[in-house]
Amino acid sequence: MRTPESTPGTVTVLGIESSCDDTSASIVRCVRMRRPEILSCVVHGQSSLHAGFGGIVPEIAARAHAEKLDVCTKEALDAAGMSLKRLDAIAATAGPGLVGGLLAGVSFAKGLCTGAGKPLVGVNHLAAHALTVRLVEEVAFPYLALLVSGGHCQLLAVIGADEYWRIGGTVDDAPGEALDKTARHLGLEQPGGPALERIAMAGDARRFALPRPMLKKRGCDMSFSGLKTALIRTHDELSAAGAVSRQDVADLCAGFQAAVVDVLTAKTERAVEAFARRLGSPPNAVAVCGGVAANQLVRRSLQEMCGRIGVECVVPPPGLCTDNGAMIAWAGHERLRLGLFDGLDLGVRSRWPLDVKSPPLVGSGRRGAKA
Ligand code: KG4
Ligand code: ZN
Repeated sequence: MRTPESTPGTVTVLGIESSCDDTSASIVRCVRMRRPEILSCVVHGQSSLHAGFGGIVPEIAARAHAEKLDVCTKEALDAAGMSLKRLDAIAATAGPGLVGGLLAGVSFAKGLCTGAGKPLVGVNHLAAHALTVRLVEEVAFPYLALLVSGGHCQLLAVIGADEYWRIGGTVDDAPGEALDKTARHLGLEQPGGPALERIAMAGDARRFALPRPMLKKRGCDMSFSGLKTALIRTHDELSAAGAVSRQDVADLCAGFQAAVVDVLTAKTERAVEAFARRLGSPPNAVAVCGGVAANQLVRRSLQEMCGRIGVECVVPPPGLCTDNGAMIAWAGHERLRLGLFDGLDLGVRSRWPLDVKSPPLVGSGRRGAKA
């Protein structure tokens, strides 16, 4: 795998992310016996391009990625003081995600690999989120990951970098999706998660009795679409009764956030037990990852619960929870260590579940299982 120009004893990977609405490139270096190091991580967000449409427009996203990938990569190489020649491999997100963006990123990575004579590593975006904890801390396999993002919500036993068992997940909306849709209904900016979190700080979470769907149901599956509908209904009732005040909105946001956090925390605690039953010992850690893990209340609640049951909780810094190239570069390292890399025939996949053995939880239609 080593190419003649790379430095002995070190492995340096460029990671490229373009699966949704963030174009990102990052250089991550591993030196033998030392902790990995993020030499640079450049993220060009697209929120302003989609702001007028109430959601991400795939075609606009794909074009913006195609325009920004080279800029981003050059910035990441310059910031790291690196050249393409000195890299050991190039990793790119190959799925799941929006096909146009994935194609832009993977085609760009293929071009770089061909030009610079470097190996290509196709990365599963969900695996990259789940593995990020090992970039920031020394976490041994197997561990439990709560992966909560804009499109996904899963509780996974991470048995190895290429081996996952899904313990539970959402049967409908992902929490990020529910947060984004709710925020849109309340007239907040996108992405809705951070906007809702900000407003919730001034709110009273106990004022509105919002449901905790499936909380009492056995198992580790979750549901967030009923909660979203309940909030929208409550908001509409308030609006029908007169003007909705800033305090009303803050109380709704706080109530919604608290409900999401309660469900995530209770189901994760239950998943720790399921993990121990199935694997014979408790997880080495609980990793909280994906964009929603940037939320302070989510972080605090999961940390408190883990402290109570005596399991280590690892939550990457917020910038490594939301989409970024460093997690792709790191997942590239993890795959290279297993001898897994790809050829120029690497394709992209809009759906790409990590656990292929368990029956599909959502989206088992024509395009395959989402999770
Ligand atoms: O992982 P991510 O960046 O992209 C996907 O893979 O989906 O996650 C994006 C999601 C969005 O739904 C966004 O609203 C949510 O993460 N998010 C947050 C926060 N920051 C991002 N949700 C709650 N609180 C936050 N601070
Ligand atoms: Zn993501």
